[in-house]
Amino acid sequence: MEDLSLHILDVAENSVRAGAGTVAIRVEEDSRGDVLSLEIEDDGEGMDETTKKKILDPFFTTRTTRRIGLGLPLLAEAARAAEGRLSVDSAPGKGTRVTAVFRRSHIDRKPLGDIVQTLVALILGHPGTHFVYRQAVDGRTFLFDTRTLRVELEDAPLDSPSAISLIRKRLQEGLASLRRTT
Ligand SMILES: Nc1ncnc2c1ncn2[C@@H]1O[C@H](COP(=O)(O)OP(=O)(O)OP(=O)(O)O)[C@@H](O)[C@H]1O
Ligand SMILES: [Mg+2]
Repeated sequence: MEDLSLHILDVAENSVRAGAGTVAIRVEEDSRGDVLSLEIEDDGEGMDETTKKKILDPFFTTRTTRRIGLGLPLLAEAARAAEGRLSVDSAPGKGTRVTAVFRRSHIDRKPLGDIVQTLVALILGHPGTHFVYRQAVDGRTFLFDTRTLRVELEDAPLDSPSAISLIRKRLQEGLASLRRTT
């Protein structure tokens, strides 16, 4: 996988599969500390100790349709390649939090990639799930929440053309505001 946004998509899909009502995605960049971190937190069914121990093994999956679960091992590998690490905090009935940290300036740190496309894919693919996206760059933050968006859309479905263009617009504006230096 080329971009971190594709890893985010994969980990968030795990959350949806675990029955999450809300999936919160956080991306934080700290250029002084030279850290980039990703966090995907859900209120899904969670994992017991045995599953948690096995998740970094690429041959373990509870999927029945495919044999290999590569999502978390690949993200762990991407983090390690950039002097970072992956941690998973999870308990049955309590949900799951996956955190990956990277050395931001590391030559092998993957670029964030197209986060707008990832979020649009998640929202359209899972209209029954709430998504919260928070990105922080050196203390500046941007928050996007499908719950508040729904209110604004006055019950127009999230997969209607007008909703999709509003979602894209909000995300693009928000991300651009993080990059402005004035
Ligand atoms: N958020 C989560 N909540 C509950 N269980 C999870 C969560 N994330 C991962 N798991 C468990 O860990 C296993 C491994 O996840 P991983 O993403 O590595 O592979 P996969 O989802 O099974 O397959 P792939 O990502 O290749 O489609 C899952 O099958 C699931 O049992
Ligand atoms: Mg997966």
